[in-house]
Amino acid sequence: MSHKNSIDLQKVPQHIAIIMDGNGRWAKQQGENRIYGHYEGVNSVRDVVEAAGEVGVKYITLYAFSTENWNRPKEEVDALMELLVSTISAETPQLNKKNVRLQAIGNLNSLPTACLQELNESIDLTSKNTGLTLVLALSYSSKWELIDAVKHIVADAKKGVLNADDITEKHIEQYLCTRHIPDPELMIRTSGEHRISNFLLWQLAYAEFYFTDTLWPDFRKEDLYEAILNYQTRERRFGKTSEQLTQSK
Ligand code: IPE
Ligand code: IPE
Ligand code: MG
Repeated sequence: MSHKNSIDLQKVPQHIAIIMDGNGRWAKQQGENRIYGHYEGVNSVRDVVEAAGEVGVKYITLYAFSTENWNRPKEEVDALMELLVSTISAETPQLNKKNVRLQAIGNLNSLPTACLQELNESIDLTSKNTGLTLVLALSYSSKWELIDAVKHIVADAKKGVLNADDITEKHIEQYLCTRHIPDPELMIRTSGEHRISNFLLWQLAYAEFYFTDTLWPDFRKEDLYEAILNYQTRERRFGKTSEQLTQSK
């Protein structure tokens, strides 16, 4: 039986963030070159986006390329950028068919021009869709995002638009790339690594974390359902006691 049938559709996280890790190791296990793993990883993306839409997830953010990933060998970086262009252009009709809206976060201006053009085109072509929002984190890192936010905050304070004494959480959120996106309730990382790798540090402040040894190219619909089911067993206390939560029910 599919795990899907056991999911409580009233308690599905509205936003799931995923660190898609393990493509290189997966390829090595097959005796192939790392890039083959990235190609295979696209099938998992397709599967997971479809699965998320089917259970009513509203946002899914996929960590596709970190600012630190620019330090990989040039052949791998080039192959990843080419894969990004070809995948986005090939998948846009399917995104429209499935009512998926594409968005992107990160230092997008650092992407190769062809990549940025394809991305902006697809974002534009899918902008009217009302189903799942797929957010690609590209040339993204949390520290980059926070530095960028601080620069804009300081500039606005100088202009008198913002007063330092009045700054609240809500203000900071307005300066992050995710200003129009709710915080993820669930963060999944594949491949057995237990770290956050500069991903959404602010936004994951109260997210539930789910780690699996499964390598990204093997992570499919059922794996996502399993992660959602596991999330549904957690008690999210937000600093309160368990008793307080039961009393307020
Ligand atoms: C994740 O897989 C994809 C990207 C970071 C682009 P990796 O390429 O990190 O695969 P491993 O971790 O080396 O196996
Ligand atoms: C994190 O994976 C970035 C993405 C999945 C895009 P990495 O494989 O780059 O992470 P580290 O460097 O091993 O922590
Ligand atoms: Mg990795």
